[in-house]
Amino acid sequence: MNVKLSSFLVSIAVLFGLLGVSNGGKLSLDYYKDTCPQALDIVREVTWKHVEQDLTVAAPLLRLHFHDCFIRGCDASILIDSTANNTAEKDAIPNLTLGGFDVIADIKVAVEEVCPRVVSCADIVALAARDSVSFQYKKSLWKVFLGRRDGTISHASDALVNLVPPTFNFDKLKQRFASKGLDVFDLVVLSGAHTIIGDSHCFSFSNRLYNFTGKGYGQDPSLNPIYATYLKTKCKNLSDNTTSLPMDPKSSLSFDTHYYKILLKHKGLFQSDAALLTDKKSFKEVKKLIVFEYFLEKFAHSIKKMGEIQVLTGNEGQIRKNCSVVSLVYE
Ligand code: HEM
Repeated sequence: MNVKLSSFLVSIAVLFGLLGVSNGGKLSLDYYKDTCPQALDIVREVTWKHVEQDLTVAAPLLRLHFHDCFIRGCDASILIDSTANNTAEKDAIPNLTLGGFDVIADIKVAVEEVCPRVVSCADIVALAARDSVSFQYKKSLWKVFLGRRDGTISHASDALVNLVPPTFNFDKLKQRFASKGLDVFDLVVLSGAHTIIGDSHCFSFSNRLYNFTGKGYGQDPSLNPIYATYLKTKCKNLSDNTTSLPMDPKSSLSFDTHYYKILLKHKGLFQSDAALLTDKKSFKEVKKLIVFEYFLEKFAHSIKKMGEIQVLTGNEGQIRKNCSVVSLVYE
């Protein structure tokens, strides 16, 4: 080999080496193949054990992944506890109704026993969301690309500006999703998730029943009036802070397309659900998503996109030992 060629090859090798060290770049399906081949099985096993005991665990785990990704990217910053000097994301008002933290902690303990400081909390959140929802079908419903690193910053103030309030209209929803690299189709498909499984507190939608004018009275005309009458028997007034209802009453524990059927009957709980019928493109998509196979294919695509929002890779961030505490550099 001549000198020029060999020095060229060395430069390429160094360049790739450096890139590999400084930033792992893209996520991959087999990220833990060499470093922790058991990781995916352990996450699924512990998650399924929890869901088996309590089917309602799937909903909070899926929502946790969404809130994690929308605030500072999918970096598990949602799991970090507040300290004396800092109020963390999880203590911001919209996050007070989150759950599933205990499941993530359990998974992390199980994974750490086999592969200490290898598998990130951010990847665990993404996998647990998939596995908990998949339990019903006893097979993985979508692929999770891996290699996210854990963030070290978590501020409650970031939650309000990045999350999506249930009172948003279509334009605002579209803008907020676009700011995360997600389009209208992602919005329609992913919105389906939260009413497919899970509960909502009355305070998340009771303005539609009692105060739609903002002046202390009025009902949202886009909400099915018979359904509104029923909802009023459950959520008795605006100040009900404790009652919660299944978002998709007839199949609240099932990951199916019932949400889109009730949406078309104007029985979506939030203004943000109703808003999906106010745009031509989105309305058309709602109708298509009633077909389960189509929905599943689109959901797999959109949740992959969501799971890649602002991820930390390579040498960025860290791998936390305990998901609720930022690890110290010298640990
Ligand atoms: C389109 C914008 C969205 C809005 C405005 C929204 C809003 C909400 C609200 C207000 C609740 C009820 C909270 C409560 O009162 O307890 C909720 C629950 C839920 N959301 Fe969303 N969400 C959105 C998108 C998403 C996405 C993208 C996902 C997941 C991919 C998701 C998953 C869930 C789940 C599973 C629940 C039920 C949680 C439980 O039962 O513990 N949501 N959402």
